[in-house]
Amino acid sequence: MLELPRIIAHRGASGSAPENTIAAFRAAAAAGAKFVEFDSSLTSDARPVVFHDDVLDRTTDGTGLLAETPFETLTHLDAGSWFNATFAGEMVPTLDEVLETLADLGLGFNMEIKPDRGREEETARISLAAVADIWPKDAVAPLISSFSRTSVAVAKDVAPDQARSFLFDRRPEDWREIGESLGLFGFGANHTHLDERQVAEIKQAGYRLTAYTVNTLERASLLFGWGVDAIFTDHPALMIKSFP
Ligand code: G3P
Ligand code: MG
Repeated sequence: MLELPRIIAHRGASGSAPENTIAAFRAAAAAGAKFVEFDSSLTSDARPVVFHDDVLDRTTDGTGLLAETPFETLTHLDAGSWFNATFAGEMVPTLDEVLETLADLGLGFNMEIKPDRGREEETARISLAAVADIWPKDAVAPLISSFSRTSVAVAKDVAPDQARSFLFDRRPEDWREIGESLGLFGFGANHTHLDERQVAEIKQAGYRLTAYTVNTLERASLLFGWGVDAIFTDHPALMIKSFP
C-alpha cells in the first residue's frame, strides 16, 4: 500500500519556481519534499505534457488553448519568464521528461490526469502508458488522480494496482458510491470547502484524504488535526519544517 507523505509539492515547488517545470521539481527535491503533484494534459497531436491551465497565456509566452496547439509549437515557448527572469528558457516539459527527472531525483509523484473536455479517456490512457513505460518498477509507487470520473475509471482498468484518488471542489453527494465503484485509495478535496465532519466521514469510510492547496501553517495544522492525511502546497520547504 502506498505510504503517502504529509507534504506534497503542488506542481513542484511552485512558490519558488515556475509551476510544472523541471525547475519546480528540482526545487521540490531541494526543499526536502518526498512527493510532487503535477498535471498531465494533451497537446492537439496527443502528446502528453505537464501543464495545468486550458490556455497557454498565463504560464508561457504563447497564447490559445493547449488542446489546439501541436507539440512542436510548445518547443518554442518559454514557460519560466512569467515567474521570474532567472527562469527564462524553462520549457513546458513532456510527461516523459518529468517522469525521468523524478526517478533521477528519487521523488514519488501524484499524477493528476487533467483532460480537456472530450479527451477524458484518451488523456488517461496516454498518460498511464507513459508511466508504465518509464517509471521504474522498484521506485516508490505513484498516486493517480483526476477530477474526471472517466479518467479515474480508465486508471482502474489499465493500472488496477496503482492507488487512485478522486478530486473534488465540494464533496459530491454520491462520494461513497464513487469511492466504491472506482476502488479508491482516497479523495482529494479543496480545503476551503472542507469541514471537520466531512473529514471524519471520509476517514471513517476507510479512505485517505488529501487537501489542496494549503499554503499557511495555521491551515495545515487545523487540517491535520481534523485527520487530513496529506496536503498539496506551493511551499514545501516551509511546510516540511513544521510537519516533517
Ligand atoms: O491535485 C490537487 C490539485 O492540483 C487540484 O487542483 O487546479 O491545482 O490542479 P489544480
Ligand atoms: Mg493539479
